[in-house]
Amino acid sequence: MSESPAAESSSPERPVVGILGAGRAGTAFARTLLAAGVDVDICSTRSPRALQHHLKIYAPGTAPVWPEEIAVRTRQVGPGIVILAIPQEELDDVDPQWVSGTVLVDATNTWQDELLPGWLEAAIAEQLPTSMAIAGHFGRARVVKALNHISHHDVDKEAQPDMPLSQRRAVAVAADDEEARGLVMGLLVRMGFDPVSVGALAAGRIMEPDGPLFNRPLRRDDILRYAR
Ligand SMILES: NC(=O)c1ccc[n+]([C@@H]2O[C@H](COP(=O)([O-])OP(=O)(O)OC[C@H]3O[C@@H](n4cnc5c(N)ncnc54)[C@H](OP(=O)(O)O)[C@@H]3O)[C@@H](O)[C@H]2O)c1
Repeated sequence: MSESPAAESSSPERPVVGILGAGRAGTAFARTLLAAGVDVDICSTRSPRALQHHLKIYAPGTAPVWPEEIAVRTRQVGPGIVILAIPQEELDDVDPQWVSGTVLVDATNTWQDELLPGWLEAAIAEQLPTSMAIAGHFGRARVVKALNHISHHDVDKEAQPDMPLSQRRAVAVAADDEEARGLVMGLLVRMGFDPVSVGALAAGRIMEPDGPLFNRPLRRDDILRYAR
């Protein structure tokens, strides 16, 4: 495998974010980031070359890379953020080394019938929030739970960077690392949302599919009602 062109170049003017997964969620995040002036490196199970046509349609302007390159430019240029947007059943195909040292935004959810990795099944059986298990698995990344509870339709429709924060769609953020939380909240503001901290990573439970925040059109006060 040779490095894709995106991984070799860097633009000093624009920040770069990596997105693991180029499906419904990944491409919606990518479109919103691009519109906000953030460059995007993105990958799927396909080679960068094979992904090009798909991206021309769903996220034009993004740079396809190999999965192992997903954090290269965001580490170099900043802000060192990778968004995890692949089905949880595929998580064992992601080498934790690829995202080592990054702020890893866990945008994933657990769905019935998915054949989950054993470590994730075990955590769920113990009633642990999935982001805690993901943080344990990707031990060298600083995991922040965000963007999982808003649908890709709403990401496209409701990201409104020109509106005052109080009039924007509110989105929850859970993290144990304050600096990582701050970086992600800054990115979400830039994308056009009103990010609201709900507390530690364990509080990410309220953002999961059976929780009170999931897929609801929220404002700041709605989220704060549930925050710890
Ligand atoms: N859909 C939403 O509205 C939404 C919103 C927020 C969060 N989420 C969450 O985001 C996750 C993905 O959902 P989705 O709806 O975007 O799924 P999707 O449309 O099926 O897309 C999944 C993407 O992940 C890629 N992928 C799978 N395994 C991979 C690997 N090992 N390395 C790199 N890429 C890999 C797939 O690649 P190929 O294209 O090559 O198969 C595909 O591009 C889920 O956990 C979901 O709950 C979804």
